[in-house]
Amino acid sequence: MKNGVYYLKSNVLMEPLVDDWYAWAHLIPPATAARNLTERHLRIMDSYIESPEAHQAAVANPALLGGPFMDLGRNRVKEVAALRDRTLRDRKELIELSRSIERLDAMLREKGKGYSLESLYAEVPENLQGYVELTYDLNNHPSFRLIEPLLYQSRAYDDSLQSLMFSEVTGDDRPFVLSTPRLDKGDAVHLQIPFASAQIDQLFAMKRQPASFDFVRETLDLSDEDARRFRCLLTSEAPRPYPRYEGEGARWRYFGHACILLETRNVSVLMDPVLSYTYENGISRYTYEDLPETIDYVLITHNHQDHILFETLLQLRPRIRNIVVPRNGGGALQDPSLKLLLKQCGFHNVTELSEMEEIAFDRGAITAIPFLGEHGDLDVLTKSAYHLRVGKHALLFAADSCNIAPKMYQHIHGLIGDVDALFVGMECDGAPMSWIYGPLLTQRLERPMDQSRRLAGSNYERAMAIVNQLNCKEVYVYAMGQEPWLNYVMSIKYTEKSNPIIQSDRLI
Ligand SMILES: [Fe+2]
Ligand SMILES: [Fe+2]
Repeated sequence: MKNGVYYLKSNVLMEPLVDDWYAWAHLIPPATAARNLTERHLRIMDSYIESPEAHQAAVANPALLGGPFMDLGRNRVKEVAALRDRTLRDRKELIELSRSIERLDAMLREKGKGYSLESLYAEVPENLQGYVELTYDLNNHPSFRLIEPLLYQSRAYDDSLQSLMFSEVTGDDRPFVLSTPRLDKGDAVHLQIPFASAQIDQLFAMKRQPASFDFVRETLDLSDEDARRFRCLLTSEAPRPYPRYEGEGARWRYFGHACILLETRNVSVLMDPVLSYTYENGISRYTYEDLPETIDYVLITHNHQDHILFETLLQLRPRIRNIVVPRNGGGALQDPSLKLLLKQCGFHNVTELSEMEEIAFDRGAITAIPFLGEHGDLDVLTKSAYHLRVGKHALLFAADSCNIAPKMYQHIHGLIGDVDALFVGMECDGAPMSWIYGPLLTQRLERPMDQSRRLAGSNYERAMAIVNQLNCKEVYVYAMGQEPWLNYVMSIKYTEKSNPIIQSDRLI
């Protein structure tokens, strides 16, 4: 150890926040953020303020797991009311944007009857003018597409309301983030730092390169009180070194959920990074410490909060050479561009892959494979499975792909041949569509429709059909949300009698 220099402890939790809510992918693009603000956050806050006891009871009820209930006990009404008032005061632009999306939808329903849409541009709400194109599908259903790169430059995108909360994590128990804002309990350092800031990179470099306390203080511009607290997050103890894989062929390691690190002597690929911190706990696991110094490719399969996690991505940002994301559909409200969103958050090395497009590297290639279903039949294109050819190995990471059209894998087999190892998610019940996309709807969806359109992956028959079609030698069921340290983005608790467990046991 050098004198007077410190590392960042391996259990320093960094929670990225937007308006003091945990930042997941729909809270970054202005339009989805606006809808979530009015239709999720403000509603949950109002409901908690009115009846905190009901929230406390609902959180204790396993049948309501993942529902719109705050996991805060019943004594935080004052703080929640203050957050609501702050949100109403600071987020006028977003609240207005959300109302404008409603008005635009209503206007198109009323007036888009198959005749030219040109005259309707004058009726587009003021703050959406110049940011939308009005369209019909071939059956005269009117809709609009957002011109996202322009919208990010508008007043609706305000990264001064992004912040970071630092604390030490010592156990797996974290509240479910879609329903509970992160209130400061006096245990954390809360800094108004936008996600694109290089300050984050400088800080997390200290996981491996020690620096002085003055450096930390200046980099983060800490107040005396914050500096005192931050001091506890540093250690003079060096982390354990990470030996790169130097063996023959390839090694793949499971970090939990859909996160797998694949390494050869020449290349490292990290799938859907969601990582655990290092702390003493009953279940052994790979953590942030078990990653190489640089990661050649990070692959993101789709835009669900358990597959793209800013908390992890921001901490790894300077170590990632390339991020590969599925190509974007072009402006549908429910399908924001991952490339733009990541760029906005300081990632300048994002590559989009279209279906069956490939990136070649030394003795291997990454191919984007079509990913069907699991999005409630919404027109969402930002989703992809990945085929990895590494030396003589062929692996397919299917994530939550739902095999609703088995013929597709027959066509794919003709192009990629047999697969050695298939990784497939089998969360085959899935939440109703509204669980993630509800805030984006401007009209009520009837309950039976919502219940029928699920965010469900493959069941036994569907997964088995992929195994057979691709002649897979090995199959791994993953991405089941079973890791207790990921409950904060997952909220799934299975028993042996749960259908996804029965189905996946059958497959194995
Ligand atoms: Fe998913
Ligand atoms: Fe998933």
